[in-house]
Amino acid sequence: MAFPEGFIYELKSRNDITEVISSYVALKRRGRNMVGLCPFHGEKTPSFNIYTETDSFYCFGCGASGDVISFIMKIENLDYVDAVKYLAQRVGLDMPEDSYDNSLSNLRRRVFEANREAARFFYRSLMSPEGKGGRDYLRGRMLTDATIRHFGLGYAPDKWTALCDHLKAKGFKENEIISANLGVKRHSGNGIIDRFRDRVMFPIIDLRGNVIAFGGRIMSDAKPKYLNSSDTPVFKKSENLFSLNNAKNTGSRVLLLCEGYMDVISVSQAGFQNAVASLGTALTSEQAVLMKRYADEIIICYDADEAGQKATARAIPILRAAGLTVRVLSIPNGKDPDEFIKSKGADGPAAFAAIIEASGNDVDYRLQKIKANHNLATPEGKVDYLEAAAKLIADIESPIERDVYVSGLSRETGVDKQALLTQIDRIIKKKSRDNRRKEARQLQTQLSGRDDKIDTERRTKLKSTSAEEALVAYLIKNPDSLRYIQSQVNAEQFQNSLMKRYFVYFSDRISGGLEPLNNLTADFSSDEQSKLYRILHRNEGIAMTPQSLREFIGVIQGESQKPSDKGAMTTEQINTYFDRIRRNKQ
Ligand code: GTP
Ligand code: MN
Repeated sequence: MAFPEGFIYELKSRNDITEVISSYVALKRRGRNMVGLCPFHGEKTPSFNIYTETDSFYCFGCGASGDVISFIMKIENLDYVDAVKYLAQRVGLDMPEDSYDNSLSNLRRRVFEANREAARFFYRSLMSPEGKGGRDYLRGRMLTDATIRHFGLGYAPDKWTALCDHLKAKGFKENEIISANLGVKRHSGNGIIDRFRDRVMFPIIDLRGNVIAFGGRIMSDAKPKYLNSSDTPVFKKSENLFSLNNAKNTGSRVLLLCEGYMDVISVSQAGFQNAVASLGTALTSEQAVLMKRYADEIIICYDADEAGQKATARAIPILRAAGLTVRVLSIPNGKDPDEFIKSKGADGPAAFAAIIEASGNDVDYRLQKIKANHNLATPEGKVDYLEAAAKLIADIESPIERDVYVSGLSRETGVDKQALLTQIDRIIKKKSRDNRRKEARQLQTQLSGRDDKIDTERRTKLKSTSAEEALVAYLIKNPDSLRYIQSQVNAEQFQNSLMKRYFVYFSDRISGGLEPLNNLTADFSSDEQSKLYRILHRNEGIAMTPQSLREFIGVIQGESQKPSDKGAMTTEQINTYFDRIRRNKQ
């Protein structure tokens, strides 16, 4: 069941898409549209567009697209019903009663509630006689009671069903407990058992204060050391950061990125509350983009061991791509931040502040690593070093910044600065050539439909599909043309079944006097909706003249009389053909 048409119409007209998005993205006007940096992938030049004509957004960089509701779903990590509720609340609109399917929304709510109840249960159990082992462990790691409370740490009892029993007594059903990943099915298949047993527990809290998951640490040397919640309807490991809920409030626009829970907690106890950690996986670009919402600079505070250094090298380009500046903390004696602070006793906070102060930028860090890997005493070693360094410097965007490093390198090695600059110039030129080639290849792939997972028919019916797409886009933007279009083509002439569904759907809505794009959710999956907006915006510049419309119709009529696309035109010919129609008639 879907929301009533009129309700969604009012919801969308009162939540102006530009206004809603502008609280997340800095927007600039470009013609009729607005542009900004995409909040869904890292980028430095804006490819995120808001189209006021269709009240939709589209990113040329990552393909994210949709209406104001899908924007809120994506950015606030909500399901459809909750995104609608969120927007209704935003403008003080009452929700219609019981006319919609809110089973997913209800399940998510129950999972949040079960998590909150579990966090309380773990905390109480930590403070009970049963939790003595956990308390001793955390105190042994020098955590104060205030820190334990602040992070809501807890203890999962050494029993098979303690939490499950407690949650059932509180009215939670087995399937809800399993969905929250707090319980798992017994091997025998009868009943469920606790997922976390005899571990100290770290709740993971989202930006709105919901408990979304847990990490649990074993107190011995047994394996696995840390056990984390698997992904659930409310938790995606790759899109969340531990303690961002605390760190976002410091107002500093600098975040300390650590490897683990204990590092964040130690660092925070030492007075640096802007610390976060990725959740036991390599840093993802989603996490980098999320950090960019609250920070401009990241100080990587990974372990000084080899694994930590490898992770640092992988994280730097991901953070840079999200538009963040990066510094790298160097911790003496192979320690992690937690061990370092503890080793300094009462001087821990001051000592940590000092190494933060001393942390260098990412280029210095990488140049040092490269240098350490080469023997500068031999000519070959020196050449290899300079080549690797030149490659790194070529990645820097600012010519002034590049010049600073080249001067340093020239002084250090005695090699002529001009020679270094020439070498770097060559690398930059080659890179931009490679990039152009790559982009052209990507565009070809996109146009040919080879990588289209939603519309799998596109690749084999490229010509008819392209015309059908253009016709659908035309119809949405020119609802008045419906009668003419219907007098020329009918749905049965469509070769592509998805395009046919769009065509039938929009024809029906327009004949019924409904706003074409108002309520797509009831009839199309979220991928099919994004696909539609992509079609709409790919055909943005398309001529809105009756002449081009006749051309599209002509292709559809012609194609409908052939058995298949085979042997007709090549991909390239088809694309050129449509390109010509687009360009000529604008
Ligand atoms: P402590 O030993 O408690 O100080 O933890 P640490 O943070 O120093 O541990 P380590 O550097 O080994 O790991 C860093 C992070 O990786 C942890 O906080 C976890 O998120 C993750 N991690 C470590 N061990 C495991 C494991 O066995 N399983 C999983 N899933 N994650 C782990
Ligand atoms: Mn540690």
